[in-house]
Amino acid sequence: MLDYNTIKEKYSEENQSHVFQYWDELSSPLREKLLLQASEIDLNEVSQLIDEHITCEETHSLELSKIKPAQFIPRPDKIEADKSWKSAIEYGIEAISAGRVAAFTVAGGQGTRLGFDGPKGTFPVGIVSDKTLFQIFSEKILAANRRYNCSIPWFIMTSHANNNQTVDFFEKNNYFGLNKNTVNFVIQGRMPSVDKNGKIMLQNKSTISMSPDGHGGSFRALCRSGAIKQMEDLNCDIISYFQVDNPIVHCIDPAFIGFHLINNSDMSSKMVKKVDASEKVGIFTDIDNRTSVIEYSDMPDALINERDNSGELLYQAGSIAIHIISRDFAKKIGHGDSEIFRMPFHRADKKINTIAADGSDYKPKQPNGIKFEMFVFDALPIAKNPIVLETLRQDEFSPVKNAEGSDSLKTCQEDQLKQWIAWLKSVGVNFHENEDTKIKFEISPLFADSFSSFKTKWESLLNKPEIVDGLYLEN
Ligand code: UTP
Repeated sequence: MLDYNTIKEKYSEENQSHVFQYWDELSSPLREKLLLQASEIDLNEVSQLIDEHITCEETHSLELSKIKPAQFIPRPDKIEADKSWKSAIEYGIEAISAGRVAAFTVAGGQGTRLGFDGPKGTFPVGIVSDKTLFQIFSEKILAANRRYNCSIPWFIMTSHANNNQTVDFFEKNNYFGLNKNTVNFVIQGRMPSVDKNGKIMLQNKSTISMSPDGHGGSFRALCRSGAIKQMEDLNCDIISYFQVDNPIVHCIDPAFIGFHLINNSDMSSKMVKKVDASEKVGIFTDIDNRTSVIEYSDMPDALINERDNSGELLYQAGSIAIHIISRDFAKKIGHGDSEIFRMPFHRADKKINTIAADGSDYKPKQPNGIKFEMFVFDALPIAKNPIVLETLRQDEFSPVKNAEGSDSLKTCQEDQLKQWIAWLKSVGVNFHENEDTKIKFEISPLFADSFSSFKTKWESLLNKPEIVDGLYLEN
């Protein structure tokens, strides 16, 4: 039973008692709702963040002399001919087949840039089929289950705001052919927004303004929800982490898993070479002998344009938010033993709907508050043997972030097509160059989810289909 006086007392001690300023006006269900929300907040953590990010406004400038480009494992032109890649693939396949791998999708973001009304995973991106991001990942996992004769558990991190809609979506669609018992939803934590004086903001008289605690909140969400325990029970010790917005990701990649295992890594990452110095992606670096991702906006200008003797960008390893994380490492980080390590929070100044002093709704035109978020890559500096593996952008990275322009539905669909056209050309299908971009067709992950699976499938077809506008290669 939540006790108003005890909770209010704690808020008063932290100078946050204004959260209850409309208490007398609230009905009992609304009071209960507010108390529940207030009790969820770790006030010690919030006041520590206010000290660090608002009161002190301490700026940590990176010491240039300590930064070096991160080492990465380059991708050879012909993987089949490369001994280390071949043996990584074998290792990876062995682990997947043995049921050691769980898929993990972070889908709790607010997707404000896309502006789609609903969880981002329910956004359609299929060129012909109109299938959604969630369906594509489901089919990729189903394809891996069939290929490796296993049943990969899938954990999907949702938010308080989108969890019910996400679960309903899977229910309505019969889990897209996956066994319902293998799909698990993990609601991530949330943090209160604060104003520029460090006061917790109200969304309305009975609701604290809260937002998801960032993709870095996934570690503690996995622990708190019992997902880590579930993985232990299933003997899954390898987590394949990817974001909900990138339909061309290899959800289950034997080579990546194999390199992670061979190197006895806590957390491995994929990188692509930056298109040019100005591309806005995080960059893998080595700071004081620890692998770290520096956000684009924090990267010192002096380093962004640095080139080596051959003219290549020195800091070229762009982060694409694809990781393999060992379960025990996720558990260690998620339990947040502050003696060892605490995931840092980042401050983001945002426009936050709130209430004015007279209690009326207020929609700001300028950022009026601060949200706190954790980033998953901030765990890298304490990870043991954190390898970085090169992949090709056209093979694996085309996120849908924006409603238009770069990283939009349009660019993502163009990239999907380009990939399939490249696969078809590699098996000898002729395209009229200037027609390439006009034909719209689609290859389902259940037909093929990589070039090698495509090649095998295509070569096995007795009657090869003609590639025409509207073609959908399904099974
Ligand atoms: P983004 O950084 O693109 O953020 O998230 P977003 O919230 O989805 O979109 P914007 O910035 O509001 O437009 C990258 C990935 O991390 C997940 C997202 O769902 C996406 O898969 N994420 C982000 C979470 O799961 N939780 C969060 O709190 C934040």
